[in-house]
Formats: sequence, structure tokens, C-alpha cells
Amino acid sequence: MAQSINLLQIGCGQMGGAMLAGMLASLGRGLTARVVDPQPRHVPQDSGVSFYHQLGDLPADYAPDVVVLAVKPQQVMELLPQLTPYLSAKPVVISIAAGITLAQLAQGLGKDSLGHNALADAADGVYLVRAMPNLPAVIGQGITAWCTASPLPPMVQARVEAVLGSMGHSLLVQDEGAMDAVTAISGSGPAYLFYLAECLMAAAQDLGLSAEVAETLVLQTLAGSGQLLRQRQGDCSATELRQQVTSPAGTTAAALGVLMQSPHGLAELMAAATAAAHHRSIELRAVG
Ligand SMILES: NC(=O)c1ccc[n+]([C@@H]2O[C@H](COP(=O)([O-])OP(=O)(O)OC[C@H]3O[C@@H](n4cnc5c(N)ncnc54)[C@H](OP(=O)(O)O)[C@@H]3O)[C@@H](O)[C@H]2O)c1
Repeated sequence: MAQSINLLQIGCGQMGGAMLAGMLASLGRGLTARVVDPQPRHVPQDSGVSFYHQLGDLPADYAPDVVVLAVKPQQVMELLPQLTPYLSAKPVVISIAAGITLAQLAQGLGKDSLGHNALADAADGVYLVRAMPNLPAVIGQGITAWCTASPLPPMVQARVEAVLGSMGHSLLVQDEGAMDAVTAISGSGPAYLFYLAECLMAAAQDLGLSAEVAETLVLQTLAGSGQLLRQRQGDCSATELRQQVTSPAGTTAAALGVLMQSPHGLAELMAAATAAAHHRSIELRAVG
């Protein structure tokens, strides 16, 4: 179904710029966008988007049907009260700010936060969505997990999926409590893989390869393996693919013997690393 979206986006930095570029590409003429950012650095050229330095510069009668909050988490709470004049069309408000909860969004908009089920039905009918994208969004290859207090009407859900899908894939999670785990896996995940690339490149040089050769080998191995996993999804699991390239007593088996040794193998390390990220996400939420 072709989407028609009247968008207000607040913040046009790294993530906001990626979202805007993705929406312009995927929605084309279906998108009418106004963007607020004091210094937008990621502005698509000749896009027809109207830019404003601050919320108060918007026309007084402006009424978007989707609002995207793409500012830093500490700026979100300050901005929310200033948004209320622009909510007359009962838009869906999508926040990508890490750690800002649905209840905090509701409170910031002056809604009566009576508990999860009450949020979406709050007096002014504004729907709230909390989303967690990840860095590959900047090339349209991200995964954005999102949640809402209660199910959205199909048309509103389609709008949310069109907006978040513009950065790659989107995935609705039923329980907001899962967002800390999402943060630990897909939110922080790109950094784990970048670090794996660093380690593998350093190991390649230890084995005598030049930095250039190491980089070429490692980057294409990671990219190609990721694509293969993706293409075979549903037919062949990661475990099966690994087993297919592991001949008994061969070179891969020798390396995996080290990576899989217990209790100090990669599985334990990854579990400890993601548990630390999960714990920190909960801690930051408590502070915020
Ligand atoms: N980057 C990631 O990988 C990632 C992943 C998941 C979630 N997120 C979330 O995405 C959000 C944006 O992150 P980002 O990396 O895109 O940050 P960013 O590059 O700093 O972009 C934020 C933009 O908002 C602007 N801004 C600041 N105050 C504003 C205001 N009052 N009104 C309108 N615009 C304002 C900033 O301008 P100035 O620079 O001039 O202040 C900047 O251009 C964050 O909440 C973050 O938690 C990011």
C-alpha cells in the first residue's frame, strides 16, 4: 500500500539524517517532511524538505501525522512539552532515543501515565512508539526493534513500519521490557562485529600478512559470511553453515577447538559481554 506521510522530524544528525534519506527514497512523493534541527548536518540535497532551527519556528497550525524524535536522549524530555501545540492531528510519536521509555514519553507530553494499557488511549489519542535502530541504518541495512504500549490501528502501524523500514528492517517486539536486551544485541551489536574485525585483522598481521591484505580478507569474509547467513536463513542455520565448512581434523576445526573451549570460549565471553551491555542499559534507564 502506498504510504502518504506528513512528517515532523526533530533532530537530523547521524540517525535522523539516515532516516530522512531512507524515507525520501522509499516514500518519494508520499512524504511531506518538516525537520527541526539547529544545525542539520545530514541534509539530503534538493529534497524539498523544509528545515527549521527550532520547534517554535514551525507554523502555528502545523499538524503532522508522524513525529520522529531523533535527538539525544537527554534532549528528548526537554523537547516533549514544546511538541504539544503540534499534536492536533493525533500523530504517532516515534522516539529512537536510547533508554527513553514509553512512560517517560507519555509523562513528557503531559499525559496521564496510568500504566501501559492506558498510554495509547490517553486523552489526546497520540500513539507512542519506542524504537531502537542500529548503526547500519546509515546505509539502509539496519534493524530497528520497536514497541508500543498496546496494539496500534493497522493504518498507524503501517506508517510506523514505513518510517522504520526506511532504515532497513523493522521488528515489533511485544514487550517493552525486551528493549534492554535488544540494546545489548542489535543496538550495540555492530561494535562487537567491528571489534571482531579488528581482532581478526591483527591476527592476520601476526601471521605475516600485510595490513592491506589483512583488511581485504577480513572485510570480505565478514560481509560475505553475513550475506550467506542471510540468504540461507530458514534453510540452513548458522550452526549448519559452520558444520559444513568444518572438516574433521582440518584447519577450521583446529581454530574452533580454541574458540569453543570451555569454560573460557567465545560463547561464555559473548554471554558475559551482552550481559554487561544489558545490565548497563537497565542502569542507564534507572538514572534517566
Ligand atoms: N547512532 C547510533 O548508532 C544510534 C543507535 C540507536 C539509537 N540512537 C539514538 O538516536 C538518537 C540520535 O542519535 P544520533 O547519533 O543521530 O545523534 P546526533 O548525530 O547527535 O544527532 C542529534 C541531532 O539533533 C540535534 N538537536 C539537538 N537539540 C535539538 C533540538 N532542541 N531540536 C532539534 N534538534 C536538536 C543535534 O544538533 P546539535 O549537534 O547541534 O546539538 C543533532 O543534529 C539518540 O537518541 C540515540 O540514542 C542512535
